[in-house]
Amino acid sequence: MEKLSVRLADSVEKTCQKAINEITTEVLAAREHLLKGDADGNDFLGWVNLPEDYDKEEYSRMKADVARLSAKSKVFVVIGIGGSYLGARMVIEALQSEFASLVRGSKPYVVYAGHTLGEDYYSQLLNLLDHEDYSVAVISKSGTTTEPAVAFRIVKAHLEKKHGKAEASQRIVAVTDARKGALHDIAVKEGYPMYVIPDNVGGRFSVLTPVGLLPIAMAGFDTDRLLQGARDMRKVCIESNTLEGNPALKYAAIRNVLYRSGIKVEMLVSNLPNLRYLAEWWKQLYGESEGKEHKGLLPHSLSITTDLHSMGQYVQDGERLMMETMIRVKEPATHVPVPTDEQNLDGINYLVNKSLTEINNCATEGTIEAHLSGGVPVMEIGVERVDEYVLGQLIYFFEFACGVSGYTLGVNPFNQPGVEAYKKNMFRLLGKPGF
Ligand code: PA5
Repeated sequence: MEKLSVRLADSVEKTCQKAINEITTEVLAAREHLLKGDADGNDFLGWVNLPEDYDKEEYSRMKADVARLSAKSKVFVVIGIGGSYLGARMVIEALQSEFASLVRGSKPYVVYAGHTLGEDYYSQLLNLLDHEDYSVAVISKSGTTTEPAVAFRIVKAHLEKKHGKAEASQRIVAVTDARKGALHDIAVKEGYPMYVIPDNVGGRFSVLTPVGLLPIAMAGFDTDRLLQGARDMRKVCIESNTLEGNPALKYAAIRNVLYRSGIKVEMLVSNLPNLRYLAEWWKQLYGESEGKEHKGLLPHSLSITTDLHSMGQYVQDGERLMMETMIRVKEPATHVPVPTDEQNLDGINYLVNKSLTEINNCATEGTIEAHLSGGVPVMEIGVERVDEYVLGQLIYFFEFACGVSGYTLGVNPFNQPGVEAYKKNMFRLLGKPGF
């Protein structure tokens, strides 16, 4: 397997080593809980075996549907919120061109709905869909979430008006519960192809089910490689019970040690703009899993060097409450040289013959040094490159570490009771019967 590594900056490691040794027993016990399923939330551990243990017949059916829908779609609308869209968006945005909306390839361009209630967003989406051949995936585990339900009603009405009901039902697929929920019932009645989110897989752990795989495949990316990366990382996480052999355990141990030392915020940092949705997905995974009982690191993110010109001052000099977890990618997919300019009016000829990656890496090294000297602990997660395989590794790594970290923190990482509070108030304000 290509290596994914976790490394704590030397100066921080020196001061934390004793605490890391002490927490190791707890981290190993947390790993055992995940593997044995003997702690709170054990009815939501289906993701642990997902990359091996998935419905192969459904997966082949999904590929056939992807081929059928791709042939008639320039745009693919993914309707979902939270765990029902962030994983797909993370992988797609990491792999597609930053300019994919303007430079369309042969595969459908994925747009998102159901993650917002902004009215102008929907009028702009409908304007786009007026002129594009499109198909739709509506994704909701519960099948009752308001935001995707409203979005689906709007998009379904548009599609039916455009093509008629019969053709519209050939262009819609539903990903939802196998037996219950409003979306399940609509899909059965309208005859949409259906894909199942297993009962024992929660939304934020569902990217390796059709929730993530279907949109990722529609965007033209290789879901076999994604699953292979996740499978290989699972093997490491399942088989190794040492911090040095198992990067997920090391990451979980370090973040809990730093939390106990008084750190309140973890910033996931990357120097590649295409990883911004990795941070969004990670924020949901860790925020919803650990933010309970007034505990947990607040997940935040930074993009280098962009945010050094906005947040850099605070990180360097503001209140000392944060740590940084840097995603370091060894190789970019392509190279762009800095051209020579004889006049050198901009004074940057000293950069000629250096690749942008060298320049970016020097900026990142400089940032790490500066932040360490400013009292911000820095940890690095190193990967070879950004492709389907590595993203599969990262997905499983962060999921496994999240389960271990949550149990080490002393919470149930697999529920989300806090998410219900706003819904009750919203339903009351909207006059929903029973509220
Ligand atoms: O992780 C979770 O469980 C949540 O973020 C859900 O994914 C999100 O609330 C959407 O729920 P549903 O898929 O039921 O519409």
